Amino acid sequence: MAIQFPVERFAGIRTPFYYYDTNILHQTLDAINTEIKKHNNYFVHYAVKANANLKVLKVINEAGFGIDCVSGGEIEQVLKAGFPANKIVFAGVGKSDWEIELGIDKGIFCFNVESIPELEVINEIAASKGKVATVCFRINPNVGAHTHANITTGLAENKFGIDMQDMEKVIRSAQSMKNVQFKGLHFHIGSQILEMDDFIALAHRINDLQDQLEAADIHIEIVNVGGGLGVDYKNPQGNPIPNFKDYFAVYDKYLKLRPGQTIHFELGRAMVAQCGALITKVLYVKENAIKKFAIVDAGFTDLIRPALYDAHHKIVNLNSNEDGEIYDVVGPICESSDVFDKDIALPKTHRGDFLALLSAGAYGEIMASGYNCRRLPEGYTSDELE
Ligand code: LLP
Repeated sequence: MAIQFPVERFAGIRTPFYYYDTNILHQTLDAINTEIKKHNNYFVHYAVKANANLKVLKVINEAGFGIDCVSGGEIEQVLKAGFPANKIVFAGVGKSDWEIELGIDKGIFCFNVESIPELEVINEIAASKGKVATVCFRINPNVGAHTHANITTGLAENKFGIDMQDMEKVIRSAQSMKNVQFKGLHFHIGSQILEMDDFIALAHRINDLQDQLEAADIHIEIVNVGGGLGVDYKNPQGNPIPNFKDYFAVYDKYLKLRPGQTIHFELGRAMVAQCGALITKVLYVKENAIKKFAIVDAGFTDLIRPALYDAHHKIVNLNSNEDGEIYDVVGPICESSDVFDKDIALPKTHRGDFLALLSAGAYGEIMASGYNCRRLPEGYTSDELE
């Protein structure tokens, strides 16, 4: 079922705002649970960077998922939402000391470590607290992904992870430290990936690395393959639930897990993108010699993806079903990149109409900024507006 908009409930809510359809969210989470429950060693940690709205987080926690954090702020937020600390994985190339301390104090599941200097600091801080921190190494698998360059992460030129040829050396060094316990490997090749071949390539790479480790008599418990599954931005209403079946089947078929190993996934976008929309009001319709502009009250401060990644969010008019006209949908910010879409057909649009920018549940509200001293958008769930 496509996202539903209770437009009559929107009156009186300050625009722009994010709207989350909890039915879609539940259906998405159920679809994931259906797949992973076929295995007893599959664990999904929701990548909270995609959306840290507390109401959304509570639904995800209730569905039993773990969580992937990349900052101390995210750890604080997910603890507030009720996630147990022992389901938190903590990644990031530049963890500050206070963030490492927080992770150790709270007893998180695992640090995904991206360099030797970071490992040394984790070991030192854990020692100062008389604790042992569980660590996995993020390995840069040098596997490409067919996605936007700004969201490709698994190539040698990217800043992320540890080079494959250094893998054994860093593991040995972790094994020689008293206050870290090395447990496994972590990978992440990029985001908005729709070609299963990219994940197959990652699975093959992990198999090779596991063979290498076995030959060196190194045994691991945790294989974390990261996230990256994409969503259908072109046809969100026709295809609201990502293809989790094929995604998990790739790992089932191609990844050779050893007995006792667990596999961990860090899905962000695929879990929350399609349940959310940015709701904005049309302020003015302005025409010049060549164009018609629908000027809305949301700008790239509310949804930066089109400006930053040339991303496309389908736009629908929630009030008008008059005959179509061609518009550029633009925001109020004083920059030419503040454009949501160009030359799109919308029903004839008027001042006061609500427009919804679809597939905005991931990397929408969370990436909002206060540029131009604009207010941050609020987020509401369908349950609240019933
Ligand atoms: N794990 C790691 C280590 C990551 O860096 C990311 C995303 C994820 C998991 C979750 O990836 P997902 O399943 O959501 O693809 N702001 C960009 C996306 C940036 C993704 C950063 N890392 C956008 O709006 O497209």
